[in-house]
Amino acid sequence: MKKTVLVSGGAGFIGSHVTVELIQAGYDVVVADNFSNCDRTGYEGVKKITGREDIPLEVMDFCDMKAVEALFGKYPIDAVIHFAAYKAVGESVAQPLKYYKNNLSSFLNVLEAAQKKGSFVLFSSSATVYGEPDSVPVTEATPRKPATSPYGNTKTICEDILHDTVKASEGRLKGILLRYFNPIGAHPSALIGELPRGVPNNLVPFITQTAIGKRECLRIFGNDYPTPDGTCLRDYIDIVDLAKAHVYAVGRMVEGRMKQDCEVFNVGTGRPVSVLELVNAFEKVNGVKLNYKFAPRRAGDVTAIWADPTLANTEMGWKATRTVEQTLKSAWEWEKHLAGK
Ligand code: WQD
Repeated sequence: MKKTVLVSGGAGFIGSHVTVELIQAGYDVVVADNFSNCDRTGYEGVKKITGREDIPLEVMDFCDMKAVEALFGKYPIDAVIHFAAYKAVGESVAQPLKYYKNNLSSFLNVLEAAQKKGSFVLFSSSATVYGEPDSVPVTEATPRKPATSPYGNTKTICEDILHDTVKASEGRLKGILLRYFNPIGAHPSALIGELPRGVPNNLVPFITQTAIGKRECLRIFGNDYPTPDGTCLRDYIDIVDLAKAHVYAVGRMVEGRMKQDCEVFNVGTGRPVSVLELVNAFEKVNGVKLNYKFAPRRAGDVTAIWADPTLANTEMGWKATRTVEQTLKSAWEWEKHLAGK
């Protein structure tokens, strides 16, 4: 019997890549999105990649409980993956209420509906909950630290909401928290990828937009950090590797392989890469020269964080396989596709 997965925010960068992998793994998928933070490029690309014109699309806002209840009444939802949230760190500092209202209300509604329906819940969390870790790599047991932005705080709060609700449900509700590190790249088909609105906050879309000529110059925020080359270290994970981790997690839930009612997994490569290393790798693998300069540090940036992905590797059987060079190539192919090249 085919299982059905609801992907909230399924038209977005991560949601669209996860939808492709779920469909290709044999799941039925319902995509729900209010298109407040993306256009239909992702959804149309998913249909082209999978060859499926019949992927249900529900245009709705997860802050609207009536719409959420109608959605859960319309489909046999075995599991829900919740991506629908605002995610711009800087914007969250300027507009905290917008972030708390949207990110918390939408998750509370999904959780309440899932509990009633008996659906498993997978929450899209983030390494941002670790703040500036005292030691690296971080494991799932590494203590979380106060978030450095309202965006990050909504991730921490949603983790606690899931944990407490699962605990009180005494086995009726189960869920998994996936803590992503830095998702980058695009699908090898170059039909879906990252589509930041306005000026990109994140590094890789800014690199590709600079390389294609949409941006004048990449600023590297700080080269005076206590790291080998002075720039920050991150765990950059290929978006398709990240998407596949969701298929493993959903399988673990719906096939009854969970060992606790609420589980947490780091989804990273375990490989620290500096900003400068990423820039140099991008130039080398794509044969382009990038116009960049060093600039002052960006407030709130963490010096170094990368994952110890052992638990996801051993418990879920999932492992990142793509090299950072392959990922940077996919990011560049996507940017060229967007430019019609
Ligand atoms: C990475 C490195 C910057 C842009 C955030 C969120 C995380 C996740 C991913 C949302 C840093 C440097 C960046 C630029 C630069 N969530 N940089 N010039 O801050 O690690 O993580 O995005 O999707 O939850 O916290 O990612 O890509 O913004 O920055 O030098 O123009 O690149 O200083 O060292 P970050 P990032």
